[in-house]
Amino acid sequence: MSSIATSVQTAGRAVGSKTTPGPILLMGPPGAGKGTQAKELIKLWGVPQISTGDLLRANVAQGTPLGRIAKEIIGRGELVPDTLVNDMVAVRLLKPDTINGYILDGFPRTIGQADWLDDRLAAQPEALPVVAVSIKVNYNQLLRRITGRRNCPVCHTIYNVYVNPPKVEGFCDIEGAALIQRDDDTEVVFKERMRAYEALTAPVMEHYRALGRFAEVDGDRPIDKIAAEIVVAVERLRR
Ligand code: AP5
Repeated sequence: MSSIATSVQTAGRAVGSKTTPGPILLMGPPGAGKGTQAKELIKLWGVPQISTGDLLRANVAQGTPLGRIAKEIIGRGELVPDTLVNDMVAVRLLKPDTINGYILDGFPRTIGQADWLDDRLAAQPEALPVVAVSIKVNYNQLLRRITGRRNCPVCHTIYNVYVNPPKVEGFCDIEGAALIQRDDDTEVVFKERMRAYEALTAPVMEHYRALGRFAEVDGDRPIDKIAAEIVVAVERLRR
């Protein structure tokens, strides 16, 4: 067992003993580590990661009608319209693997999306409400993380050339595949993504804070320490 899994499980023992983690929302600016943390937490809780960014990029790669609309919007660092994203998430939530909960990575990121999700969950008597945990990281660190990020196109492992490089430069440790850099991981597009985050997504944090279902963790620390703190925060919010 890796040191990350050990410390997450140590901190999360009480959470693990509960019936379900329910829907958990990971929030934070571009590069905060939402995807990285989601991949740690799914190992602990055995629930799926639902990343709207990944789903949209899959649509782009497949050339679907949604993907054709999303491609340029993502390239500009803006947000895809709520109705398109909500419909995409609605389809994903129908899959049976969501029964015990799921980790939402990057959704909802507008008040319209949050209202849609809250209404949907409220209409399901057995569903737990969303609890939101935001990962806080300073601007310069975010920029470094975004421009240094590389992804494996096969297993989707996330690397960073500065802080978490692969053993062989440019290639995935697990699959051996050539790593790729996202088109929107440039400094110019990052600035636009930050603008969208401040204007449209920051209010979502206030929305869940007002409902008493929000926590914030310091994301400028080792990955395993952040994961452990998220687990503790979720446990507290679920009480
Ligand atoms: P999306 O893919 O969701 O991008 P994002 O929110 O900008 O977040 P990122 O994926 O860039 O970062 P992350 O927080 O997951 O960080 P990661 O773990 O990879 O969305 C892309 C686009 O799709 C949007 O701009 C929008 O156009 C569209 N979209 C998506 N969802 C939408 C929605 N709901 N509505 C409308 N439009 C939507 O980590 C980053 C790097 O940091 C990695 O290299 C990693 O190795 C490193 N790292 C992580 N943690 C640490 C740590 N603790 N210490 C050091 N390095 C670390």
